[in-house]
Amino acid sequence: MTDAQISQQLREEYAKLKVLAGRVREWVGRPMGDGAWLAEYRKTFEHFRAHLHKQLALEEAGDFLPHVVARRPTLSREVDHLREEHREILSMADEMYTELNQLQPGNTAGWEDCRLRLRHLLSAIDHHGRTENNLVVSVFGIDIGAGD
Ligand SMILES: [Fe+2]
Repeated sequence: MTDAQISQQLREEYAKLKVLAGRVREWVGRPMGDGAWLAEYRKTFEHFRAHLHKQLALEEAGDFLPHVVARRPTLSREVDHLREEHREILSMADEMYTELNQLQPGNTAGWEDCRLRLRHLLSAIDHHGRTENNLVVSVFGIDIGAGD
C-alpha cells in the first residue's frame, strides 16, 4: 500500500470509530434507565468495542505501525508506546464490557462508576488518536483527523 492508501484507510476507520464513540458518549450523559435501556446500551457498547478491537489489530498487523517503523526506524520507541496504549485501551474496554454485563437496573451507584470509567476510556482513546494523528502527519504528511 502507498502512504496515501494507508492514511486513507486509517481516516475511514477513525471516522467509523468516532461515530460509535459518539454514541457511547451520548449514553454516558444520561441517568440510568430500566432493563431495556441497559440492554440497548450494552449493544451499543459491544458494537463500539468490537470495532475498537478490529481497528487496533489492523493498525498493528496491517500497513500502519510496521510501515511507520520501516519508514522511520528512529520512531520505534514511539510506535512501541502506541502498541502499549492499544493493550491498555483494549483491556479497559474489555473490563467495561464485563462490568456493563454485570450491572443490574436500579444500581445507580454502579452506573455512576461505569460513567466515570467510560469517560476515562473515551478520553484515553481521544488522546491516543491525537498522538497517532501527529505521527501520521510527521511521517506521511497527511492529517487523518483522528481525535479532534
Ligand atoms: Fe492506535
